[in-house]
Amino acid sequence: MPDSTHPASPIPHPVVIDTDPGIDDMLALLLALASPELDLRGISVSYGNTVVENAYRNAVEILRRAGRRVTLGVGARRPLRRQLAVARETHGATGLGYAELPPPGVILDWVKSLDRLLAEQPQPVTLVTLGPVTSLALALRREPEVVRAKVARHIAMVGNIAARGNTTRYAEFNAWCDPEALDTVLRAELPTELVGLDVTREAVLGPQDVTRLAHSQSPNARWIHDALRFYMEFHKQAEGLDGCIVNDVLPIALLLRPDVLTFEDRNLAVGLDDGDHRGHTRVKPDGARVRVATQVDMSRVRPLLSERVFRWATRATPTAISQEGATV
Ligand code: RIB
Ligand code: CA
Repeated sequence: MPDSTHPASPIPHPVVIDTDPGIDDMLALLLALASPELDLRGISVSYGNTVVENAYRNAVEILRRAGRRVTLGVGARRPLRRQLAVARETHGATGLGYAELPPPGVILDWVKSLDRLLAEQPQPVTLVTLGPVTSLALALRREPEVVRAKVARHIAMVGNIAARGNTTRYAEFNAWCDPEALDTVLRAELPTELVGLDVTREAVLGPQDVTRLAHSQSPNARWIHDALRFYMEFHKQAEGLDGCIVNDVLPIALLLRPDVLTFEDRNLAVGLDDGDHRGHTRVKPDGARVRVATQVDMSRVRPLLSERVFRWATRATPTAISQEGATV
């Protein structure tokens, strides 16, 4: 009998996403919203690419443009103990590059935390973390039994094994932001799957994809293009790349096409010092056992973005992003 945990199940797969939107987060959220395979039960926003007030405003604007209502929570506002540092040079002052946005509001204290968002789920979900894992670490501290009962699977865009870091030469940004949080999550021995730079460095959106948006008159296409234009400029300057790396799309693509990534088991530990190895996720015999993505088939990922997100965005008449439109 198919159930919602089976990838090929006709029952939409319940998912909660913790995210720091963030330009690549924005594409990941739109892909999740456009996919009939997924039941996006909630979004919690976190600091990371930008401050949490911007992340909240950005998530609201993404949902408004998508024409969709999803329960919004607020996870982490700052790292467990490290100083807050955001990626302004990568995602811009707003977190979404040159895209036009309303001013951020203040975040009221009563908003729902990730643990409360998980606690209200009627059935276990797949938790996808696309930013620092501070929100999950806080949830584990506050309500470990809720996390263990409601997180059937955890897919994290975090870390790197063989691939060069993108924040220091050794560390990936989400791991670097809060290594103590990642240490807590790894030690919790949740069913965590790491989708790190070893595969996401291949998730490159080429200029032709971005240009397709620029040639559209659709407001949503131009808005996404304004965000990606900033991201492309950063990658050109920082990595000499003609394109941009859309890391966060891969965890969502994995849920839609389970064979798009190949995993191997590794024992991992994360660097907790203050130097170049801060946030460095490396193989250690006594480290936590975790599944790590080692290969990606990007030929299966590109059609998902182009057919489910860009096709929606370039429609002449803006419509709600709908799951009925998924053709690939
Ligand atoms: O290192 C890349 C990751 O850090 C992505 O999730 C990006 O959005 C940033 O959060
Ligand atoms: Ca992110």
